[in-house]
Amino acid sequence: MPRVVVFDEFGGPDVLRIVEEPVLEPAAGEVRVRIEAFAVNPLDLMMRSGALPAVVPLPHARLGVEGTGVVDALGPDTTGLEIGDPVILTAVPNASVRGSYAEYTTVPASRVVARPAGLGVREAAAVWVAYSTAYGALVEKARMRPGDHVLITAASGGVGRAAIQIADRIGAVPIAVTRHAAKEDELLAAGAAAVVATDHTDVVEAVRHHTGGTGADIVLDLVMGPGQQDLLNSARPGGTLVAAGFLDPRPTPFPTGSPLTIHSYRSFEHTLDADVVARMAAFLNAGVRDGALRPAVDTAFTLDDVVEAHHHLEKGLHAGKKIVVTV
Ligand SMILES: NC(=O)c1ccc[n+]([C@@H]2O[C@H](COP(=O)([O-])OP(=O)(O)OC[C@H]3O[C@@H](n4cnc5c(N)ncnc54)[C@H](OP(=O)(O)O)[C@@H]3O)[C@@H](O)[C@H]2O)c1
Repeated sequence: MPRVVVFDEFGGPDVLRIVEEPVLEPAAGEVRVRIEAFAVNPLDLMMRSGALPAVVPLPHARLGVEGTGVVDALGPDTTGLEIGDPVILTAVPNASVRGSYAEYTTVPASRVVARPAGLGVREAAAVWVAYSTAYGALVEKARMRPGDHVLITAASGGVGRAAIQIADRIGAVPIAVTRHAAKEDELLAAGAAAVVATDHTDVVEAVRHHTGGTGADIVLDLVMGPGQQDLLNSARPGGTLVAAGFLDPRPTPFPTGSPLTIHSYRSFEHTLDADVVARMAAFLNAGVRDGALRPAVDTAFTLDDVVEAHHHLEKGLHAGKKIVVTV
């Protein structure tokens, strides 16, 4: 029988176990996907550990919000897809029930798009969350335009690298923020126009320098915490800050009196919207085709090593690249 990763209690990576379960028959409008690979995201660690401020029904919770595979079965009235089509999952909103950590999952057909031609299975498994988040935050929310100076925090991470590539493709100017000067060359090679390393540079001064004194037009804050104040001070009055991540567990002071537009961003607000998903997929396809968008995979584990994959992400051994599990 097909294998599925589940957990019965919150805890460390060792709570994950593999069980065998019959496949679900897709209902009307649904599609069953035979998963070839899925990516491990920080959100999965939060769900598994109980840190997610949302209900995860236990026992027997599943995991996984992204992945790739081929269409295995279609429910009644499901149109636009054929059995055998290679697809990527664009969102699994009920991951604890239909998660992608499995040999098969069944989701609404509106939650899959064609796999971008030119991507290998591993890269395709890891492309959607990072690129749709960066695209949604920068293009759909902040209305990024050519020439905009865009300050990108956690730039060496999965979402950050995607944001650099998307800004470059649109003709904006990505300024990458890292905590380590040692990553400067790597980030310049990844497409950053300039790098601000917070271990040896003052963020506000550096951004003023790189923007000719004006300040950043857009800030993508994937970190939050007390450091957000420097980001607000690095933006030009009338600019935009999009808060999309929370890597710093310390509280974030409320940004009172800031002359910026501030958005909080959760990608589900877009990945459940068919019109936005169509725009994201079109942008992704075009960017993969011309080589501008290049998802970076760190390590590929097998399903038997899914616990190890979680340890790897938890210890930060992935160097900001995506961790993929092949099925
Ligand atoms: N809003 C959404 O819908 C959405 C979707 C996907 C992800 N996210 C969130 O976005 C964030 C980034 O995700 P990701 O997959 O890109 O993560 P990632 O690949 O694990 O990368 C994280 C990077 O952030 C930096 N970092 C880590 N801890 C930090 C800290 N305490 N303070 C400052 N920088 C830190 C590190 O870079 P340096 O060592 O170079 O500083 C690291 O390379 C996460 O919080 C994730 O949950 C949100």
